[in-house]
Amino acid sequence: MLVKNITVLGSGVMGHGIAQVSATAGYNVVLRDIKQEFLDKAMEKIKWSLDKLVSKGKISKEEGDSIFSRITPIVDLNEAVKNAELVIEVVPEIMDLKKSVYAELDIAAGPKVIFASNTSTLPITEIANTTSRPEKFIGIHFFNPPQLMKLVEVIPGQKTSQEVTDLTQEYVKSINKQSVLCRKDVPGFIINRLFIPMVHEACYAKDRTNSTLEEIDSAVKFKLGFPMGIFELADFTGMDVIHKATVEMHLRDKKVINPHPIVEKMFDDKKLGQKSGEGYYKYSDDKYERVALSEQLAEKFNPIQLVANILNNAAWLVTNGASDIAEIEKAAQLGLGLKKPLFETAKEIGIKNIIDELNKLAKIHGEFYKPDPLLVSMQ
Ligand SMILES: NC(=O)c1ccc[n+]([C@@H]2O[C@H](COP(=O)([O-])OP(=O)(O)OC[C@H]3O[C@@H](n4cnc5c(N)ncnc54)[C@H](O)[C@@H]3O)[C@@H](O)[C@H]2O)c1
Repeated sequence: MLVKNITVLGSGVMGHGIAQVSATAGYNVVLRDIKQEFLDKAMEKIKWSLDKLVSKGKISKEEGDSIFSRITPIVDLNEAVKNAELVIEVVPEIMDLKKSVYAELDIAAGPKVIFASNTSTLPITEIANTTSRPEKFIGIHFFNPPQLMKLVEVIPGQKTSQEVTDLTQEYVKSINKQSVLCRKDVPGFIINRLFIPMVHEACYAKDRTNSTLEEIDSAVKFKLGFPMGIFELADFTGMDVIHKATVEMHLRDKKVINPHPIVEKMFDDKKLGQKSGEGYYKYSDDKYERVALSEQLAEKFNPIQLVANILNNAAWLVTNGASDIAEIEKAAQLGLGLKKPLFETAKEIGIKNIIDELNKLAKIHGEFYKPDPLLVSMQ
């Protein structure tokens, strides 16, 4: 099957970006939302983004115009999916809403049409099974903003056919992105399984060591090779996103995450991070603002328990057949911006030291910290 026509359902933060990158690669795109005014706003954003690329000399004016002309905004669902071979669903992360959208879509779209969901945390298999075509249903997890982020996680559900998985990976390649296959539909897929628990772990580390946010963030940046500190990254991502992912992941698997109450409290208090002016840090406006981190501050915090947490989750993904070390490193590099491979950091620290740390934490704080058998076998 050849994909030429793509319908993107939902024109919000992610949807308009996915429409833009698909049209840039030459696909005919229909962008669908529930109100014309949402589509008008999305088309304005796409125009703004293309104009910026033209002004920077990245594309010509003609290219910008022709990309824009390949995106057709349509409200009517039947009309919107009439010619589609692939529908990418990018509606809000609410299970009941997604299910009702797929119920409508399943009737509107022809039986051969592939459904790909951009869900960050919801179970692919469960949504797929509400449709008449679970073998044509797949997860396709873009990162924000899709125009810039190179990584796309591809997540087959239990019944997804190999042909649909191959085709989805080909589509990702064709839009100039790199796919990482999450071979099993596990909570958090790969990136969120590494990132979200680490935010909580950093909160526990702060409580237990009396370190400052800046000391922990400096160590994460300068010792672990993250592009910014973990609290900075959480503020940048937004506590609404982190809280929602936490709830969904914890609901499905208690072993994946040890929720720290501060995350829920910040969400309730609307301390959402940069977008609300306050998260872990305070921001003078909603623009991206760097926190003052340094190598000297990094010396004041030993990040071993953070490394132990992220490594244990990485090992879990391998042990449970969801990924392998090379793919995890690729995902971490492209999705989290890691400058140093995780397992290289682990070797520098010493796998044995990490296991000792996990065993020590397990003794004090419980089973959650039990080292994964893969790590134990790597000593
Ligand atoms: N924002 C992120 O950083 C991010 C990153 C990766 C994945 N995601 C995932 O992408 C999805 C969308 O997130 P978002 O941040 O773009 O949300 P958003 O709220 O910005 O956009 C969702 C859009 O879907 C529209 N919508 C609602 N019902 C619809 C329907 N029946 N048909 C068509 N459109 C409909 C809404 O009007 C809205 O414009 C979620 O599953 C989310 O978890 C988000």
